[in-house]
Amino acid sequence: MDKYIIRGGRRLIGEVEISGAKNAAVAILPAVILADEPCVIENVPDISDVSICLRILDEMGAKVDMLSPTSYRIDPTTIHSFCVPYESARRMRASYYFLGALLGKYKQARVSMPGGCPLGDRPIDQHLKAFSAVGARCTIDHGMVDLSADRLTGNQIYLDVVSVGATMNAMLAAVRAEGLTVIENVAKEPHIVDLANFLNTMGADIMGAGTDVIKIRGVSKLHGATYSVIPDQIEAGTFMCAAAATGGDVLVKNVIPKHLESITNKLQKIGVVVEEFDDAVRVTVDGPLVKTSIKTMPHPGFPTDMQPQMAALLCLAEGTSIIKEGVWEQRFRYAEELRRMGADISVDGKVAVIEGVGSLMGAPVKACDLRAGAALIIAGLAAKGITEIEDIFHVERGYSNMEGKLQALGADIVKKNVPGASVKKALA
Ligand code: EPU
Repeated sequence: MDKYIIRGGRRLIGEVEISGAKNAAVAILPAVILADEPCVIENVPDISDVSICLRILDEMGAKVDMLSPTSYRIDPTTIHSFCVPYESARRMRASYYFLGALLGKYKQARVSMPGGCPLGDRPIDQHLKAFSAVGARCTIDHGMVDLSADRLTGNQIYLDVVSVGATMNAMLAAVRAEGLTVIENVAKEPHIVDLANFLNTMGADIMGAGTDVIKIRGVSKLHGATYSVIPDQIEAGTFMCAAAATGGDVLVKNVIPKHLESITNKLQKIGVVVEEFDDAVRVTVDGPLVKTSIKTMPHPGFPTDMQPQMAALLCLAEGTSIIKEGVWEQRFRYAEELRRMGADISVDGKVAVIEGVGSLMGAPVKACDLRAGAALIIAGLAAKGITEIEDIFHVERGYSNMEGKLQALGADIVKKNVPGASVKKALA
């Protein structure tokens, strides 16, 4: 069981290269199943969620070849199994994309109910609604979701809640269905557009991704394609917050500044200086940081996946900040850990009130989910003294070489293996 040990108080200075987007890659890799020929996927982040995706593809019979640390050639024509068992699916939320992709190609899928970060209730009713609408029979037995269809036909689908996963799964299921599918009230995140672009590169006919309505005219075949995953807006935002929290000067490279707009605006509002370039942003600080209020919302609103990192930064800002979580029921579990570092945060349901404390103190803490772990890293980098962060496997699910990238910016952070911790965990 690994942990990060951070000696805080060093300004981050230099350049950091952002990796491919986790939440795009974990949909695009399963989407390769829909092709009738091999695909090459580039700018794939080196994170454990991606490793799990690739392992699932391999276990199903796809031929997966690593061309470089960030690009893979995947031949889906050799797939012989349509099942993702519990052992693989429980580790990752995105295992649900195998449902849509397998259904879309083979008209059958059997995938264990997905795992993922503990953020409260995470139903998949809207995914199942979309699958049923295009003609699938859906049952859940013994923790497995079973889908089968004689044929898939286009339909009108209205999503009752704006859901990233259900939007992507509806696209995967409908792309090879007969006729026109119209999906309304869809999510508009950059990774939705990225998946649609990838499918269109393979010959799909998808219009409207990035707006409220997506129209898909089904095609009978999808050819192979070479496609590069978009940069990770949340990894970029995390480094932007880390630069600001340490009073640093960091050029965050390989980003699409448009995807960062809501994060950039919020940072500028609290006094961080953000300069935009074509594919980079430079973050500096030239005065005290001040309070703000944030409400997380689906894109183009402020992303829930940046909420904990902003909270860590706001602990260091002057005044009282208020954060309302608009997507997940339980996304403040990190508050208790930040309090151990001297933060003044009170949480009432989906609202957190943060009184700025000026400085934080290092302490032993635990990452309770992926973005909570990122928030603790930011807090640790800014804090006085040593912070030890346990359960960093959460962080490694979504950040590629986090400690290496921070070390290159001058941070004093090391990853340490603590054998005793895994024994403790196994006994717990
Ligand atoms: N929801 C339903 N029914 C459904 C699906 C969702 O009620 O069938 C609700 C959820 O309970 C939630 C809201 O709709 O309240 C939004 O959930 P969404 O489906 O959009 O989330 P997701 O697809 O499960 C993805 C990301 C999350 C990110 C959310 C919101 C992946 C693999 N995960 O989850 O990423 O927080 O969208 O943007 O793409 C992370 O990266 O740290 C992370 C948790």
